[in-house]
Amino acid sequence: MKIAIFASGTGTNAQAIIDQAQSGDIDVEVALVVSDKPNSKALIRASSSSIATFGFNPSNYTYKEEFESDIVVELQARKIDLVVLAGYMRLIGPTLLSAYEGKIVNIHPSLLPNFPGLDAIGQALRAGVSETGVTIHEVDAGMDTGPIIAQEAITIEQDDTIETLTKKIQAVEHRLYPQTIAAWGNTIKLEGVKSK
Ligand code: GRF
Repeated sequence: MKIAIFASGTGTNAQAIIDQAQSGDIDVEVALVVSDKPNSKALIRASSSSIATFGFNPSNYTYKEEFESDIVVELQARKIDLVVLAGYMRLIGPTLLSAYEGKIVNIHPSLLPNFPGLDAIGQALRAGVSETGVTIHEVDAGMDTGPIIAQEAITIEQDDTIETLTKKIQAVEHRLYPQTIAAWGNTIKLEGVKSK
């Protein structure tokens, strides 16, 4: 299964997926990394791993539909099966959603539906809850909505800070996301076999 990873930031999740794909731990090929920040660390990581990149600057376009059309051209040219959002800080619009219907996944650092949106880890700490976690879900037009595929809870200790909790969440993300993508890819393959 060929995937494209979309990332806006540091790309530690992208790196975990790339590493596990390239070592053969998961049966996935990372064929493209896409970023709306042409200088992002995520794109540098992709290039260092000899993975094709597509960086674009949204301010060079008038409408989301225009850059999403360019993205779809790139995805289709590389025969991408699945789009994996990993810290991609934009809502997906109708152009991309319809081209990859049911084939876009996202990871979010909370137990959704709790704490959607920005700074989910800080939101959980400020709320004083005793647990938070990681959610992987299918992407729809909403912000961190869409059917949940996998979730894992993490206990928040009294002395946890944003730094310690972020580390715990990242450790879970870097294990759970590659595994879930690979398992989901198998489901898609099986569906393909069934429909033949
Ligand atoms: C992760 O915490 C992910 O859950 C959220 O954005 C963050 C991306 O981190 N959607 P990184 O760029 O992969 O390090």
